[in-house]
Amino acid sequence: MNKDNRVVKRESFQSSFGLIAAAIGSAVGLGNIWRFPYMVGVNGGAAFLIVYLFFVVIIGIPIMLGEFIIGREAKKDAVGSYKTLAPKEKWYISGILGVLAAFLILAFYSVVGGWTLEYLFSAILNKFQGQSVAQIGEGFSAFISDPIRPVFWQLVIMLITTYIVANGVEDGIEKYSKVLMPLLLIIVVILDIRAVTLTGGGAGLEFLFKPDFSKLKAQGILDALGHSFFSLSLGMGIMVTYGSYMKEKENLGATALKVGIADTVVALLAGIAIFPAVFAFGISPDEGAGLVFVTLPNVFLQMPGGYIFSILFFALLFLATLTSTISILEAVTAYVIEKFNMERKKAAIRTAILITLLGIIASLSNGPLSHRLIRGMNLFDFLDYLTANYFLTMSALISSIFIGWRLDKKIIEKQLTNDGRLQIRYIRLLSFILKFIAPIAIIIVFLTGIGIIKL
Ligand code: PFF
Repeated sequence: MNKDNRVVKRESFQSSFGLIAAAIGSAVGLGNIWRFPYMVGVNGGAAFLIVYLFFVVIIGIPIMLGEFIIGREAKKDAVGSYKTLAPKEKWYISGILGVLAAFLILAFYSVVGGWTLEYLFSAILNKFQGQSVAQIGEGFSAFISDPIRPVFWQLVIMLITTYIVANGVEDGIEKYSKVLMPLLLIIVVILDIRAVTLTGGGAGLEFLFKPDFSKLKAQGILDALGHSFFSLSLGMGIMVTYGSYMKEKENLGATALKVGIADTVVALLAGIAIFPAVFAFGISPDEGAGLVFVTLPNVFLQMPGGYIFSILFFALLFLATLTSTISILEAVTAYVIEKFNMERKKAAIRTAILITLLGIIASLSNGPLSHRLIRGMNLFDFLDYLTANYFLTMSALISSIFIGWRLDKKIIEKQLTNDGRLQIRYIRLLSFILKFIAPIAIIIVFLTGIGIIKL
């Protein structure tokens, strides 16, 4: 990777904690607090959750570990790592798919990032005060279909993200996020307490934790797989890049496990905050992308200090979003710098402009362009669906086959044991998972989800 790359200079990678914080910063974001509850909701609840957790453990964490191994061994970015480890072979397609996915993801992710800013300002202005559940829902629909406001906020978040990626001043952000992310967690726990004590909230917990497998369709299983990659930031080369900056003494397995657990805990806590409230307020759980934005303002209205909590929550959610948008733009920028031998600032700005243009169309597809459908979805939903379920899944499939079948076992062993210094008992298990379980499961789930095979 280019010397100019800011990750090289990142001090926090000197410490294990800084490294884990950066990986968690990328993993924890809107995927946990916005996308996870919405996916659980549209796919019928607990059965989806169980399948999701299963995929995180059996496929997600092993693939994250695989990405770390590739990165630390090759010491390159997503595409360059494959080229180094297997010159003249086509495995780097996994990296290219990942970069493309990152590009498309940021286009719609920044739209939702913009929504968090609108809600932050609505919270500050106390706009939800006195509104009924229905009015809050209508307010959300009116806002996202507005041609100007969501685009304005999206521009704001893209500007901040680009500024940070172009200048590499994220050291400060990381320092703050070490304090702010735990704070976000505390607020979510407070929201949990309020939500589960709402009258009628019990039905929400039942929805989230009592499985009814008849509600889960093949599409839902593919959604669970795609979301596990989305939420853990896999299949985009991000964890390959982070792996390339890990020190030799770092325990890769323990790191992957910690990131996986942290990501899952945040998603579960978000689910516990949302679903009891969804049922208590009579909101429909399969509401879709608006679920969190329609539900949480109602919870804030029902709690003492709700005004302050709502401001803190949306501010922190915005920051959690920012640590993810930075990592996504970074993935594309690092590739552009390398590929076109471009200076960092230029690369970041040009990439961001293209992403923003697509993002604006995605935002307008919730309003003025909502009649333009691709496979029955507007552009916003289509980008979300296409990237998680196709791009990330395919990229992860290629990387698991690469590690399972192509990469020398000695390399895997060396990386996992830090050259024999660590006693690791799961090497054969990991190889088995990456060789057979993950690829077969991904292929079956994918083909079933898109309706090519019927189970
Ligand atoms: N994992 C992030 C989240 O759950 O919000 C989203 C994300 C970050 C997706 C980085 C992709 C990525 F490359």
